[in-house]
Amino acid sequence: MKTPSISTLFFFLFVTFSWSVADRTDHFLKCLKEEFHDYNSISSLVYTPTNSSYSSVLEFSVQNLRFVTESTPTPLVIITPEHESQIPPLIYCAKLNHLQIRTRSGGHDFEGLSYVTQVPFIVIDMIKFDKVTVDAEQKIALVEAGATLGTLYYRIAEKSPTLGFPAGACPTIGAGGHFSGGGYGSLHRKYGLAADNVIDARMIDVNGRILDRKSMGEDLFWAIRGGGGASFGVILSWKIQLVDVPETVTVFAVQKTLEENATQLIHRWQYIAPKIDPELFILVRVARVNSDQDGAYITMRAAFTALFLGGIDKLLPLVQEKFPELGVVREDCTEMSWVQSVLYFQGFPIEALDWLLKRQQPYVGYFKGKADYVREPIPEYVFEGIWKLFKEPDAKDADIVLIPYGGIMDEIPEDAIPFPHRAGTLYKILYATYWSKQNAQDADKVLSWLRKLYNYTTPYVSKSPREAYINYRDLDIGVNNDKGEVSYKQASVWGKKYFKNNFDRLVWVKTIVDPRNFFRNEQSIPTWRKWTGKGDI
Ligand SMILES: Cc1cc2nc3c(=O)[nH]c(=O)nc-3n(C[C@H](O)[C@H](O)[C@H](O)COP(=O)(O)OP(=O)(O)OC[C@H]3O[C@@H](n4cnc5c(N)ncnc54)[C@H](O)[C@@H]3O)c2cc1C
Ligand SMILES: *[C@@H]1O[C@H](CO)[C@@H](O)[C@H](O)[C@H]1NC(C)=O
Ligand SMILES: *[C@@H]1O[C@H](CO)[C@@H](O)[C@H](O)[C@H]1NC(C)=O
Ligand SMILES: *[C@@H]1O[C@H](CO)[C@@H](O)[C@H](O)[C@H]1NC(C)=O
Repeated sequence: MKTPSISTLFFFLFVTFSWSVADRTDHFLKCLKEEFHDYNSISSLVYTPTNSSYSSVLEFSVQNLRFVTESTPTPLVIITPEHESQIPPLIYCAKLNHLQIRTRSGGHDFEGLSYVTQVPFIVIDMIKFDKVTVDAEQKIALVEAGATLGTLYYRIAEKSPTLGFPAGACPTIGAGGHFSGGGYGSLHRKYGLAADNVIDARMIDVNGRILDRKSMGEDLFWAIRGGGGASFGVILSWKIQLVDVPETVTVFAVQKTLEENATQLIHRWQYIAPKIDPELFILVRVARVNSDQDGAYITMRAAFTALFLGGIDKLLPLVQEKFPELGVVREDCTEMSWVQSVLYFQGFPIEALDWLLKRQQPYVGYFKGKADYVREPIPEYVFEGIWKLFKEPDAKDADIVLIPYGGIMDEIPEDAIPFPHRAGTLYKILYATYWSKQNAQDADKVLSWLRKLYNYTTPYVSKSPREAYINYRDLDIGVNNDKGEVSYKQASVWGKKYFKNNFDRLVWVKTIVDPRNFFRNEQSIPTWRKWTGKGDI
């Protein structure tokens, strides 16, 4: 790869300020033509707004319509590489032309950071890196960054009914973003996060070098397992340790309204779900029950949904002993295979394994999510206060999900990987609100309702810092500047919430592997040195 001379550097520095968008695109494409000796081999993977398929390629992996509007900035160029050797020239040409890179795998980022930003940028869409290779004997899989979790689960099930992987529930999530931000699912109490089970990785750094665990070293390998991949380079693939699951698992779902003592049950759940055997995962989703005609509030309903790694005959005595109040009976339970339980949790028919291979959800709408970690049980009256907020009209399509921790999550040290929410965490709360095109005009009201709820729970959740989860990205908790300097102080406002004390080590790794802070975004890890953004190449 060519390195630009000092005079070229200065030249680009001066002209950047007067460049139009069209100029920038032209210069970037010209650079690609020079870098690829056989440009024809890549031109069919390069989309600019003049290509008729540009919008459909851009929107294909968008999972939140909040980021597809008239005023949403779009990339100058989208590239869908097919081979890793095609990526270093993209990084080189983006650097040369002062374009930010957004790498996208599954497009599930809550704030759309993998395909939206306010400064000129290109998207490297990893959609063609979608292979998963399972070695059932070694209990290992190779997962390319653009492969979805559904594909991973499907390929595992193809090879073995007794292997699984502890990652997220939604089958269209991409491995690239998910594993690099942590990745939890119904198996994390037993086996930890997806990132805890990554044993090797392949990535490309800012200098275009292709690295594996050995050549990147343990610090960078640590950082990309939970610190967010986007700050460090482009992840190509992961090697993961598969985990044992029984041939038969059991699921149950029990729903209770406020009139059926939902509040007392949720209160009890806080003491039980994080402490119970790690084979049992009981999640609670709470939402309003609306009247059919006018959407008026009727009551709140809590859905307790569980996965047990074993048969009904073992589950029933366990849950009846440890959580008798829930009143689970045999009729509530269904035995199935682990891969079927993935479909069950998504509300898909459990026989329809092909659903797992689809890259698009049947319905994509608008949403905003926020997260909290809870370390002390929340008193009943606080839940009652939450229900009161849910009576407001703007809470019509909102919910909260309580995700239990404990089990092995308590045993893994806080600094094992950048994800710090371990011992002492009882559960995580996901607050979310949803809307559709029809009521897009209400978006602002719905969002401020969600922020009001988050404000209301402040005294009852983790503090100093109020912890957050990078995979539930939330730009409300703080951002870097769009342009110019990113100070440690400014970034640590959000950084300590996601990473607690691991933030400092992430900054240290970042400073070594990307000292000029090329791979940056609204919530990317900063470098120690103050960097003004000038001469940033
Ligand atoms: C419907 C839904 C359900 C979810 N369920 C869960 C769940 O059960 N458990 C859970 O833990 N999380 C869950 N999430 C959150 C999800 O884990 C994160 O949004 C995750 O980052 C998505 O990864 P992605 O590749 O799909 O997203 P993307 O939007 O493609 O990427 C997310 C971030 O990672 C970066 N990135 C992506 N690919 C690469 C790469 N190859 N190299 C470097 N950086 C990269 C992006 O630039 C961006 O910053 C859910 C999200 C949604 C929308
Ligand atoms: C987009 O248009 C350019 C210019 O016409 C062409 O060279 C390129 O192959 C097109 N890209 C795709 C993906 O069709
Ligand atoms: C709710 O709890 C009260 C008091 O513990 C109990 O008397 C009542 O039967 C419960 N109601 C339901 C529907 O379980
Ligand atoms: C947040 O909550 C506090 C009380 O806990 C209240 O004083 C304050 O006004 C609230 N802020 C907003 C923006 O709702």
